[in-house]
Amino acid sequence: MASLMLASQDRVFAFLSCKGGVGTTFITTQLGSILAMRQNLRVLIVDLAHPFGDAALMLSQSHPPATLSDLVRQPDRLDEALLQSALVFPQPRLGILAATENPTAWAQVEPRAIRALMEVARQCFDCILLDCGRGLDEARLAALDSTDKLLPVLQSTMPMLRDGRRLLTALSELGFRAHQVMPLINRHGHTLLPSKALLPTALSMNQAHSIPDDGAFVQACIDAGLPAIARSPHHPITRSLIQLAQRLVHEPGADLPPSSGIVSHWLRKQWRWAVYPQPAGHMARATV
Ligand SMILES: Nc1ncnc2c1ncn2[C@@H]1O[C@H](COP(=O)(O)OP(=O)(O)OP(=O)(O)O)[C@@H](O)[C@H]1O
Ligand SMILES: [Mg+2]
Repeated sequence: MASLMLASQDRVFAFLSCKGGVGTTFITTQLGSILAMRQNLRVLIVDLAHPFGDAALMLSQSHPPATLSDLVRQPDRLDEALLQSALVFPQPRLGILAATENPTAWAQVEPRAIRALMEVARQCFDCILLDCGRGLDEARLAALDSTDKLLPVLQSTMPMLRDGRRLLTALSELGFRAHQVMPLINRHGHTLLPSKALLPTALSMNQAHSIPDDGAFVQACIDAGLPAIARSPHHPITRSLIQLAQRLVHEPGADLPPSSGIVSHWLRKQWRWAVYPQPAGHMARATV
């Protein structure tokens, strides 16, 4: 398949939750629909959320033919045909690789297999969106190795801002640069906290993008398994997601070295933080 020319060089986008239930899967799946339906791109969503990822369920009633752990069991056999056969396609240009079903299977997913998957995915899709859920383990860090942009999802409540700062600090410690990180402030406006002002870190908040709050609209989309763009293209949430999609694929990429190798470097240091890495020196900064 020939690849479309994108204005931006960025093609792999990772969505990370600062806390459970922050809206990461809704944003990832809706953005995937917009990129496929409006920008005409071939989009792959890989559900790396663990445990209990539900990206496929958000847009499709069909039972996925296979899950991530089924697919990466034999990394040497992975090719385009095998990848395509594992996907559920809620729209012709949007494929979703469903999450691993159980914790034991996730523990057996090898970083090398995730790297092989990302390599094949890059060959046959224009854009790859990773729903990383909450937590950074070796398998997810392997996926971040080939990620162009990271989009931590926050909300402007105190506990979420505190965890958002921890996550941003962790990404900075991992070596990601400010231009690679675009914080998403979901449900913007449902509290009065000035979220951007409360989040100064080593990573710039200038790039942050806000998504408005409307529980009834979001729930109606989720319940119907419908893309927001099909249900109501002019709703403020849809418009905000369309703007985000345009920013991601049409802003020219910064002329800086790619992120590859960052994670390997991190692993060599043998840090083993269970959830979000938090070096002791950053405790003071992480306290909102
Ligand atoms: N912009 C929004 N406005 C109002 N409610 C929202 C918005 N985005 C998400 N929600 C609500 O948050 C809920 C959780 O969304 P979602 O499942 O995408 O979060 P998540 O971060 O992926 O959660 P999990 O940690 O379970 O993976 C949704 O059911 C929806 O009701
Ligand atoms: Mg989720």
